[in-house]
Amino acid sequence: MKALQDKIRQDGIVLNEKVLKVDSFLNHMVDPQLMLEVGQEFVKRFEGLTFDKVLTLESSGIAPAIMTALTLQVPLIFARKHKSLTLQDDLYVETVYSFTKQVHNEITIARKFLAPGERVLIIDDFLAYGEATFGMARIIESAGATVSGIGIVIEKSFQEGALKLKDAGYRVESLARIGSLAGEKVTFL
Ligand code: G4P
Ligand code: NA
Ligand code: NA
Repeated sequence: MKALQDKIRQDGIVLNEKVLKVDSFLNHMVDPQLMLEVGQEFVKRFEGLTFDKVLTLESSGIAPAIMTALTLQVPLIFARKHKSLTLQDDLYVETVYSFTKQVHNEITIARKFLAPGERVLIIDDFLAYGEATFGMARIIESAGATVSGIGIVIEKSFQEGALKLKDAGYRVESLARIGSLAGEKVTFL
């Protein structure tokens, strides 16, 4: 997606060979017009498929995911990172390990918001090792629902998540695919 690549080139900051900072339009300050175009692009890429819900993980997935859900005219669910201690029985819980932050996170979704047979589109801002995405997929499948597609705003193709998700049989559409962050430069595939 050209507008996204241009924005990454213009405003992205290469922190090191593994991390790209995009806090001026995605992870802290958010560019709503770009997010709308991102949502519309996901819908175009998955044209012909039907989705009942969009699922993302708080917090940075919410902006692109809400625009996708708006364009599809379906609800958005965002998985939460903190377990509600009072309603534990009513939750799906999965533990996901973040290689970037080196912490285990519990992600949760209220059982009442996922029904068997539903077709779900997972949206996330970054794809690195795929841990968060696999966690969301496990929750969807344990609810008897289906992962009908995975949409990623920025895929770091030099890390293993995209390959692992495709090997697991999921359809992944990434709007920007980064082959390398070497030399303080973003190189797209
Ligand atoms: P994984 O899910 O693909 O395995 O990735 P990982 O655990 O390594 O990612 C942990 C967090 O770091 C996620 O955000 C993810 O979006 C983010 N992340 C991964 N690589 C990059 C990167 O190169 N640049 C930036 N800016 N973020 C990256 P999170 O902890 O869920 O935080 P939030 O922003 O959604 O609240
Ligand atoms: Na993030
Ligand atoms: Na994220």
